[in-house]
Amino acid sequence: MMAQEIRQKYLEYFKDKGHKVIPRASLIPQDDPTTLFTGSGMQPLVPYLLGKSHPAGKRLVDSQTCFRAEDMDEVGDNRHTTFFEMLGNFSLGDYYKEEQLTWFWEFLIGELKLPKERLWVTCFEGDKKLGIPKDTESAEIWKKLGVPEERIAFYGADKNWWSREGEPSHMREGEPGGPDSEVFYEFTSVEHDKKFGDKCHPNCDCGRFLEIGNSVFMTYRKVDGKFEHLPKPNVDFGGGLERLEAANSDNPDIFQISLIKPIIEGLEKLSGKDYEQHQTSMRVIADHLRAATFLAVDGAIPSNKAQGYVLRRLLRRSIRYAFELGIEQQLCEQVVPIITELYAPDFPEVAKQKSDIVAIFAKEEKIFRQTLRSGVREFTKLAEQAKQVTGGDVFKLYDTYGFPVELSLEEAYLQKVDVDGDWQKQFDKLMAEQRQRSQTASVGMFKGGLADHSEAVVKLHTTTHLMYRALKNVLGDHVVQRGSNITAERTRFDFSHPEKVTAEQIKQVEDIVNQKIAEDLPVSWKEESTKQALKTASGAFGDKYGDKVKVYTVGDPKKPFSREICGGPHVEHTGVIAAGGKKFKIVKEEASSAGVRRIKAVLQ
Ligand code: ALA
Repeated sequence: MMAQEIRQKYLEYFKDKGHKVIPRASLIPQDDPTTLFTGSGMQPLVPYLLGKSHPAGKRLVDSQTCFRAEDMDEVGDNRHTTFFEMLGNFSLGDYYKEEQLTWFWEFLIGELKLPKERLWVTCFEGDKKLGIPKDTESAEIWKKLGVPEERIAFYGADKNWWSREGEPSHMREGEPGGPDSEVFYEFTSVEHDKKFGDKCHPNCDCGRFLEIGNSVFMTYRKVDGKFEHLPKPNVDFGGGLERLEAANSDNPDIFQISLIKPIIEGLEKLSGKDYEQHQTSMRVIADHLRAATFLAVDGAIPSNKAQGYVLRRLLRRSIRYAFELGIEQQLCEQVVPIITELYAPDFPEVAKQKSDIVAIFAKEEKIFRQTLRSGVREFTKLAEQAKQVTGGDVFKLYDTYGFPVELSLEEAYLQKVDVDGDWQKQFDKLMAEQRQRSQTASVGMFKGGLADHSEAVVKLHTTTHLMYRALKNVLGDHVVQRGSNITAERTRFDFSHPEKVTAEQIKQVEDIVNQKIAEDLPVSWKEESTKQALKTASGAFGDKYGDKVKVYTVGDPKKPFSREICGGPHVEHTGVIAAGGKKFKIVKEEASSAGVRRIKAVLQ
């Protein structure tokens, strides 16, 4: 069964169960400054899951296009993609576990005709510390539906809990979440790989099991760091359309499904190479160009900012991989039409913008091909100076110029330059460090980190508020705090911004901050409702805040310079920051992860 048919069947099935079909939301969230992309079906529905009434009623069904930029580096195996369609059905305080699990099961068995003996399910094993019980109710329902006990597995909060931020401890104040129950399809043709553990099980990463649907029982919200019952429990179901077709055709390679295979075939034709021998490159290109196409349909254009930056990265990575396949020109012009053709019948917005998108991508491709060439030039310079290429050089070329590792090695061969025997080890280490930095940045989102409450730390804390506002003033409102860490010596601040902050911009930020310190502005705080505060204050949510938050204001509260949700403490007047003739200075600006910059600043 083709994906298009599965999508249709799903929407019809839930329509019959009293659901209203709602259109997909844009991949670029409209009213949510905290996130760049729509990454799940529930995301556009958060206010309704928290209790607001939805104009289409309490039962909704859709197919939501999703994009997860954080998975970009994972693409290449047979199942990871950054872009996918998530079939979703939602109960907004209406039906619950019994109906949900029964209906989904019926859909899998009755409509998709999946063999029962290939299906496994998982449930939440409970968490005493969180005070959330084991989900025996779901397990009982599965048993009643005929799932044998040995194919019902229980897992903890790392696997069977869903919120936008992942595990309960990562959830932001006010966010909804809850235990979930997942269904897995077992590909018996895939042998377990011992690399992933002695025994295979539904959540094993070896590829034998594929999650095909997740019923989240959205029952809680985080308040004051604890879990409070929502007024009414909801269901948030999500199932990957592409994965459902993979299961339906019993083929573990989702790049072989009806919505992707024609792209792969197009790449085979263009390159004259076989998919079997070039799986990674072809998968990356197919995934990235699908994502890029939909991002462009939803209004992104390649740029150095926010969504445009990510779109640019997707295109560049595609072109780079195409280069490896020997496709040296017109990748986008030849492949994007295959994609638009696949989606045009079901998404009129794709049909409408088809030629504009191809033209924009083609222009971007032309420019980047020059960059690729300049990567080769950089390599040559480096090779001339160093006589030996190290892992550090390869990493720098990759990280700074987007120059593929393989190309660095090939250049070394062509230019007869020696490659350090340990290059791979050093490169892997630098890559791991870079990954670590990006993880820290996203985990640290909204969590302030003060080393202590010493005078020096408190002064730098207030200074950080001034800097956050100044960064927004100079760079734009897309700047959102992604983490901070303040010690007596320095403040470290991560924020979303797609490109290097120029020396001139740094100077402007420094000047604004020093000016505001010199103005000796009063610092005050007030307790406000979270809802109210979010309208006017910058986000820096901490675990300790509930329906009410503390908002710190620098300047006249009627005409504040900065307003930030924050637990404090702060100085009372900015003037004291300059005591002893100290000045604010940014000492370092660097990339922290994709789209996130890190600044270190001091008072000296
Ligand atoms: N929101 C759930 C998920 O994305 C269904 O897995």
